[in-house]
Amino acid sequence: MKLKTKNLLTLAELTPKEFVGLLNDSIKLKKELKKNGNKPILKNKTLAMIFQKPSTRTRVSFEIGMYQLGGHAVNLSSNDTQLSRGESVEDTAKTLSRYANCIMARVYDHELLEKLSQHTTIPVINGLSDSFHPCQILADFLTIKEKKKKIRGLKIAWIGDGNNVCNSMIYGAALAGSSMSIATPKEFQPDKKVVKEAQRSTDIELTLDPFQAVNNADVVVTDTYSSIHNNDPKRIKKFLPKYQVNPKLMRSAKDNAIFLHCLPAKREQEVTSSVIDGSQSVVWDEAENRLHTQKALLSALIHAERI
Ligand code: CP
Ligand code: NVA
Repeated sequence: MKLKTKNLLTLAELTPKEFVGLLNDSIKLKKELKKNGNKPILKNKTLAMIFQKPSTRTRVSFEIGMYQLGGHAVNLSSNDTQLSRGESVEDTAKTLSRYANCIMARVYDHELLEKLSQHTTIPVINGLSDSFHPCQILADFLTIKEKKKKIRGLKIAWIGDGNNVCNSMIYGAALAGSSMSIATPKEFQPDKKVVKEAQRSTDIELTLDPFQAVNNADVVVTDTYSSIHNNDPKRIKKFLPKYQVNPKLMRSAKDNAIFLHCLPAKREQEVTSSVIDGSQSVVWDEAENRLHTQKALLSALIHAERI
């Protein structure tokens, strides 16, 4: 799969065809891995990973993904680079472009990623910023495709905080041709510009009522109320008990609805243990699918020969 975009920073860079193509490549790579292991299509290719925030899934899935495709990943905690001592983003971008074939960065400020990508000659992947988490949404839609056998014409309910993951999910729904109903407290709605953009191609409804959002939903999604950039304990009070995904809320969705959460989760806050550890939850497949979708993405951006 060849992509027109050099970078993946939000998900909005993709066309619907490219989005579906990446999911199909992910399925091929997943099957191949489980059968005989992957071919070394990224042999001698390197990924530089920059982390300003902690990570379990993103770090491990990118590093192991590169390894499984014959390449290598270098982990750079931002405190260990000269960025932390004031070297400019521009100079860092130019330097890394001379060593690596791709950069994946997890940052606070989304603008840092934009700046980085403007000064690199190599692709930049957003491994989460305060505004977006596109890699998560690729994995989410692969999971939806596997469980629902389609990604088009579904209703996705988002409950809780209209955060970075929600913003990218809105773009994902638009690319997939599915609708979204988003129930959040008024002050925690997703980015207005993102909503408006996505509304050109699909139905995106904003509501204060979680039961309205889950009504007839095929997929129910939530995320922590306290993302790394906004972990004020007072926030949590504004969400509970109304915006918790619990068995009563799940019963108001379709009987065969699935439950997604990007993880890490705070049990008994945004979701009860009974839901996240229950039969409708697909969170472990979702976490696994980070590996497969990111391998498809890396292969596409680094222009691997074939999958
Ligand atoms: N979902 C996700 O990105 O997890 P990590 O923060 O562990 O990478
Ligand atoms: N919204 C969360 C996602 C973590 C993967 C955060 O930004 O911390």
